[in-house]
Amino acid sequence: MIEPLRSVTATRYVEALREGGSLPGLVEADDDGMYVTKFRGAGQGEKALVAEVVAGELARALGLPVPELVVVDVDVALAAAEPDPEIQDLIQASPGRNLGMDFLPGALPYTPGAPIDPALAADIVWFDTLVTNVDRTHRNPNLLVWGRRIWLIDHGAAFFRQHGDKSLTLTAHETVPMLDQHVLLAAAGSIEEADERLGSRALSAVGEAIARVPPQWLGVNPTSRRADFASFLVERLGRPRSFLKDIEHARG
Ligand SMILES: Nc1ncnc2c1ncn2[C@@H]1O[C@H](COP(=O)(O)OP(=O)(O)OP(=O)(O)O)[C@@H](O)[C@H]1O
Ligand SMILES: [Mg+2]
Repeated sequence: MIEPLRSVTATRYVEALREGGSLPGLVEADDDGMYVTKFRGAGQGEKALVAEVVAGELARALGLPVPELVVVDVDVALAAAEPDPEIQDLIQASPGRNLGMDFLPGALPYTPGAPIDPALAADIVWFDTLVTNVDRTHRNPNLLVWGRRIWLIDHGAAFFRQHGDKSLTLTAHETVPMLDQHVLLAAAGSIEEADERLGSRALSAVGEAIARVPPQWLGVNPTSRRADFASFLVERLGRPRSFLKDIEHARG
């Protein structure tokens, strides 16, 4: 039996995190926790939330630090207390289940070029290439430093080809763009060793990561969407792993 994501109910919209392109907000919930919340009514819609969960839970299964992900239940009445009309609209467009990430208070952004364990950097590059996450660049590292560790956040752009008109599975061997701009590419140690560390773990974690996505975000046929994600990942993890060539190529 696979544990679903924990659910909390939003009690207060605290503030907007202005730097985020998807208008994430800091939300307080009924468990007294604070969550960086991504709303299903935002620009990229529920698909971005699906990407966050599949990638985030997969990363966690690989031992990469990702703050806890939860479902944040939102009542549109929350909008009434919000002065900003843009935020009001966002809340009103997002009743029900939204995605929360445990807020790490006082976390600092990772500074590109700061020292990092080469094996960890290689694991993160390997992982991002597997899930086609194009959003961990020098300009926008989406890594936080908190409690002497590096934390991975913001996987909404992973599986970016889900927004196209083909199934993800049909795109499994297409190359990952922008890899040469990955913030940890230069710091990464051996990708072959990362592959040895992570390959079979990833394969056995695929089903569980996908199962954790709430069905409400998966459109009219959640079963086939889950199957598409699963076969995309299983294809990419099959041998030969074409995505390793993408990394080699980006490293020049
Ligand atoms: N768990 C967290 N703890 C503390 N701060 C966070 C957390 N998650 C996100 N943030 C802060 O909020 C910002 C926006 O979050 P995130 O990157 O997930 O949103 P986004 O809209 O997808 O952003 P963008 O597309 O601009 O990268 C982050 O850059 C970071 O400063
Ligand atoms: Mg971000």
